[in-house]
Amino acid sequence: MAKKLFIKTYGCQMNVYDSARMADVLAPLGYGPTDNASEADMVILNTCHIREKASEKTFSELGRLRQDQARRQAEGSDMIIAVAGCVAQAEGAEIMARMPEIDIVLGPQTYHRLPEMVARATRARDQRRGRGIAKHHGAGVLDTDFPAESKFDHLPEAMGSQGVSAFLAIQEGCDKFCTFCVVPYTRGAEFSRPVDQIVAEARKLSAQGAREVTLLGQNVNAYHGAAPSRSNGDGSSWNLARLVRHLAEKVPELRRIRYTTSHPRDMDDNLIAAHRDVPALMPFLHLPVQSGSDRILAEMNRQHTADHYRRIIGKLREACPDIALSSDFIVGFPGETEADFKATLRLIEDIGFAQSFSFKYSPRPGTPAANIEAQVPVDVMDARLQEVQALLERQLIDFNRATLGRTVPVLLERLGRDPGQLVGKSPYLQAVHVTAPEHHIGEIVDVEITTLGHYTLGGVLAAGPAALPLPERAIA
Ligand code: SAH
Ligand code: SF4
Ligand code: F3S
Repeated sequence: MAKKLFIKTYGCQMNVYDSARMADVLAPLGYGPTDNASEADMVILNTCHIREKASEKTFSELGRLRQDQARRQAEGSDMIIAVAGCVAQAEGAEIMARMPEIDIVLGPQTYHRLPEMVARATRARDQRRGRGIAKHHGAGVLDTDFPAESKFDHLPEAMGSQGVSAFLAIQEGCDKFCTFCVVPYTRGAEFSRPVDQIVAEARKLSAQGAREVTLLGQNVNAYHGAAPSRSNGDGSSWNLARLVRHLAEKVPELRRIRYTTSHPRDMDDNLIAAHRDVPALMPFLHLPVQSGSDRILAEMNRQHTADHYRRIIGKLREACPDIALSSDFIVGFPGETEADFKATLRLIEDIGFAQSFSFKYSPRPGTPAANIEAQVPVDVMDARLQEVQALLERQLIDFNRATLGRTVPVLLERLGRDPGQLVGKSPYLQAVHVTAPEHHIGEIVDVEITTLGHYTLGGVLAAGPAALPLPERAIA
């Protein structure tokens, strides 16, 4: 009988990708997806450790799941609970010790071994049941290695379709060690997948209906993957710009290419030129800056200044005048003064972002910044967060308002909530609702933007001359 798998995903897009791949790994074992945790034979929590709040969610969710599991056991059936992702990597042993009901704890680099882990966990359960023991202690499977082999060499082909817009991990891990961040510890050292492997996966995704691909990496523009074996098997590597050009040429069915997340230090001229030259490369860039104060940037070990960031943006806008920008900001980093904070506000004013994410600094165990004495009081952080968010919100509204009345090419991705409505994305990552027949899903259509919602735009299919297939960049 088919078994049911429920995966709950927290955190970043890499976790969304990993969850899809874990489902691929488990499909040959007979696991199919369900949306209902309480009827699942196996539940995986794919967790995020980035801020304290994100981490805490794991533990409250595990509390609920353990009740589901106990109920299922009382009914004579069972449920395997697995904790994956960055909390598992950082706190795996503690989780196992605190919650013996958990069957499997695995890190982001070992999920290709899930079949073996499930087999071991199932055997342990059967033995327990044979001996009439309901709860086990120390019998769980813990695998938070950073194995020498790459999981990507062992994963099955991507099977479950991700739809019109798909994620493709091309790089993972981080060697930058910003002083506030857990990612280098939870994801490990920087690693890039070979070009050939990426092209093969991109082809597979497009065969499954993808028309847009977002290339993922914690430091995606540090990409340096092995060159294709046929053109250049000499062990040399390609950068992201070259990979993007190659993908655009080899997999033209992918009409749109995006990449995230980038670091300012790796935003080189080749990549900027690709934004000028490659029509499929979308005019949108998420480039976290964190702070506008050079003193704080140095304390954060970002290894760039606010001015360096401004110069990159200048070059990008020269290469691609309609490029829309997004960023991440941390307020209340230890030692942040009012003057430092004002410098962040100034940078935001100067650049103008289409959308952004801003966070209160959260001290993370094991990171250098957590040990700095001068932590900023919570009420100061709250006030700064409010101020920065109000400014970013104004910029978002202004950016969206500027599209009102314009005709933009929208890639239609899925059905909307209202009958007859489809939802897609503009080149600038804005969600756009439009009334259109379902068979248009997967197509790029010209939409005249007529209404502004809070986070979405509404429009109508452009008729007459406006519906002529404009080149995507002709809308600036
Ligand atoms: N380069 C990474 C960044 C991951 S973390 C990537 O692939 O996306 C995403 C954002 O979370 C960071 O840019 C930073 O703004 C924020 N962040 C990371 N650690 C944090 C912490 N300790 N407290 C608050 N925000 C944090
Ligand atoms: Fe974290 Fe900095 Fe690496 Fe981004 S670059 S993942 S913020 S350490
Ligand atoms: Fe979170 Fe790990 Fe991503 S900590 S943001 S899930 S890399």
